[in-house]
Amino acid sequence: MARRKLIAGNWKMNGHLDHLRELHGIEKAARAHPQVDVAICPPATLIAAAVARVPGLAMGAQDCHSADKGAHTGCLAAPMLREAGAQYVIVGHSERRADQGETDEDVCGKAEAAHRHGLMAIVCVGETEEERDESRAEAVVTGQIAGSVPRDASADWLVVAYEPVWAIGTGRVPTLDDVSAMHAAIRSKLAETIGEEAQGVRILYGGSMNGDNAADLLAVPNVDGGLVGGASLSADKFVPIVEAGA
Ligand code: G3H
Repeated sequence: MARRKLIAGNWKMNGHLDHLRELHGIEKAARAHPQVDVAICPPATLIAAAVARVPGLAMGAQDCHSADKGAHTGCLAAPMLREAGAQYVIVGHSERRADQGETDEDVCGKAEAAHRHGLMAIVCVGETEEERDESRAEAVVTGQIAGSVPRDASADWLVVAYEPVWAIGTGRVPTLDDVSAMHAAIRSKLAETIGEEAQGVRILYGGSMNGDNAADLLAVPNVDGGLVGGASLSADKFVPIVEAGA
């Protein structure tokens, strides 16, 4: 099944208003390659300003609460993000699973909230270095899929991002064979979890993706795009990744 590639940037806790200047070059590249979906997930405080500045470029958030409103100081609900102009929301990033102790059940609730409010959920999964060394990577990741993906998910609103924790921000990348094996295992687990819809769900690779390795990674079967951290912070580094996906 043909799946449109998605190249998504995650700025994490980086960037101020003046950093939005980088978006012009990224928007230009997105317009030049309409066959690829491109999105940037800046800090939530910048989403509305980013949408005003580059209306042709999709924006996303980096997290949402599972509830639509309520007494949850400091949290952001999916409808708030939607109102700010977000089209995507990353849920279950390994940094949040580690720093905020988010469980698969939490992540599943967040993905459901995203769907309720018209956001595309990017559900993140990935093993630690220790889990890989102990040959548990596939079991861990498929377990995360089973627990984090809502049973009623469809390709219209679900994206999965496989990010080996040990590859994030380290310059280390799994072998293409390892990426291929994991993405195939994820597709297969998705099929068990949500049935036929699994064939249309995009599975992104994330972890030290850059302009030099993107073309090889994006050519691997079942790799339907990238979730890019550090290299998404500048147009110069991100645009070559968009071009590699085209
Ligand atoms: O969400 C993005 C990932 O954590 C990848 O980050 O490209 O800086 O390794 P990175």
